[in-house]
Amino acid sequence: MTSTTPPTTPPTSSSSPSSLPRRTVLATGAAGAAAAGVLGSGVRPAQADPTGQPGQAGAAERAKAKHEVFQHGVASGDPLPRRVVIWTRVTPTPAATAGSGKGGPVTVTWQVAKDKRFRKVVSKGRFLTSAGRDHTVKLDAKGLKPDTEYFYRFRALGQKSPVGRLRTAPRKRAALDNLRFGVVSCANLEAGFFSSYRGLAARDDLHAVLHLGDYLYEYPTGGYGMGQGNVVVRPHDPPHEMVSLEDYRRRHANYKADPDLQALHARYSWILTWDDHEVTNDQWKSGAENHDESEGDYKVRRARAHRAYDEWMPVRMDGTAALGDGTRLYRRLRFGQLAEVSMLDLRTYRDEQAALPGVDPTVSDPSRSITGKKQMAWLKESLTRGDHAPQWKVIGNPVMIAPVTFGDLPNDLIDPINDVTGILPGDGAPYNVDQWDGYTADRREVLGHIRDHQVKDVLFITGDIHSGWACELPLDTSTQPLYGDSYGVEFVCSSVTSNNLKDITGVPQLTPIVETAILANNRHIKYLDFDNHGYSVLDITPARAQMDWYVIGARDDAATPIEWSTSYATQAGTGRITPVDAPLEA
Ligand SMILES: [Fe+2]
Repeated sequence: MTSTTPPTTPPTSSSSPSSLPRRTVLATGAAGAAAAGVLGSGVRPAQADPTGQPGQAGAAERAKAKHEVFQHGVASGDPLPRRVVIWTRVTPTPAATAGSGKGGPVTVTWQVAKDKRFRKVVSKGRFLTSAGRDHTVKLDAKGLKPDTEYFYRFRALGQKSPVGRLRTAPRKRAALDNLRFGVVSCANLEAGFFSSYRGLAARDDLHAVLHLGDYLYEYPTGGYGMGQGNVVVRPHDPPHEMVSLEDYRRRHANYKADPDLQALHARYSWILTWDDHEVTNDQWKSGAENHDESEGDYKVRRARAHRAYDEWMPVRMDGTAALGDGTRLYRRLRFGQLAEVSMLDLRTYRDEQAALPGVDPTVSDPSRSITGKKQMAWLKESLTRGDHAPQWKVIGNPVMIAPVTFGDLPNDLIDPINDVTGILPGDGAPYNVDQWDGYTADRREVLGHIRDHQVKDVLFITGDIHSGWACELPLDTSTQPLYGDSYGVEFVCSSVTSNNLKDITGVPQLTPIVETAILANNRHIKYLDFDNHGYSVLDITPARAQMDWYVIGARDDAATPIEWSTSYATQAGTGRITPVDAPLEA
């Protein structure tokens, strides 16, 4: 979801002046600040430069001295027991910048080794790239052993890439003691530095990173920045909204120049899905809030966005790492007998959002879908697999599934909440129709399926809403306090940088009022933090799943401190949530 506050600079292409940036969310007054474990001196600060744009000006200066072939780092993703996607991008000449179409074909060699000095190479090969794929390199490195850490690198034109690390998934039948993931979403480069990525990169205890979407934002410079004034902490490239294929490629390069992002990609394999901003705000299957006719045919634009995403991200589209072989992003990744991660695509197949939230019966129209029919059948299959089904069913969920009603909140608070969390009109009814609340028939189908098949240990891991939440998932919120029924648990990470409630209102004192009202009206919601930015760490064992929330200090400080905020857990077989008084040991 999303939206933007009115741009301080007119967008070159269409965004509606009335649209507002969304997402954010509730902060709890208490939880955030009290913190334990400050991530201290071991955490490398981003390499800020005087332009305020780490990485980019520095990269340009270095390029003057000596042209750098590997300017966008390395990445890996979608770990399987014997293969993992590895990625990089080469810049063969100074003119061959992302999206330029310039530069000839380049043969890139790659290696995967057991050691960081590459003395024990276990897999290697050559890859021919060209301007036709924006000089990106993406392939499945095969021949690896399950549940093993490896190092990888690329070489081209006499230069070596940085070294990345990856870890394969365990064998399908492996019994695991635990799995641990970093969890992130909503990283708006103009709103600040990616300290959340820095914090996760400093850890040494993760299997992989889950990214729930809004990896990058489409807005023009000043269209969606930091706080009420949309302050630009560091500018987007290109400076206009991304619409053309060149625009999308350049914006991916813009983000991939960030040193914190590069560090986290190099450190861990990522498992990603997209939300709306990878294409444009509040996209649905045939359009988007931030798209109009002046920007051409919507589906042509979306195809460009998906192509650039396929080129620049370490994901398997339609099951392989070959570029352009498909458009399907939703997929499953299994981790032994302990868990399976099912990443959803809730944008490409969804019907248009309801126009009148709260009073519009459209939200419960059974003919409308947020998943689309095929993906719904696939999701239900993920929840009820046959023999040897993994214990924890982890659903990578781009928008919240827990019902949220804002009840008796005064109208002057509903508006800023909507700015952050939804696409609601100014005086609209108080809930967010861009998430599963706008497609309640689909939600009932999923939760009903869980109930009917007595599925246990379903865990929705969610982003998008720029706030932290821990929720139980009843079919009927009004009777849940009485019967205690819950068909799973939802943990929502906050945003890496994108604006939250305090940022939108400019009045932090309002946040506790909103949070108190929401908690009072929604007894299945056990925790919410509308005011902090950060990341989460999810740890899964056979006995329980626990999520830790970490919060960053100032978004415009590249070396800002990072602190533990709070933790919640769900015990296996319960579907219920309990607070935990300390974070996981790193
Ligand atoms: Fe977002």
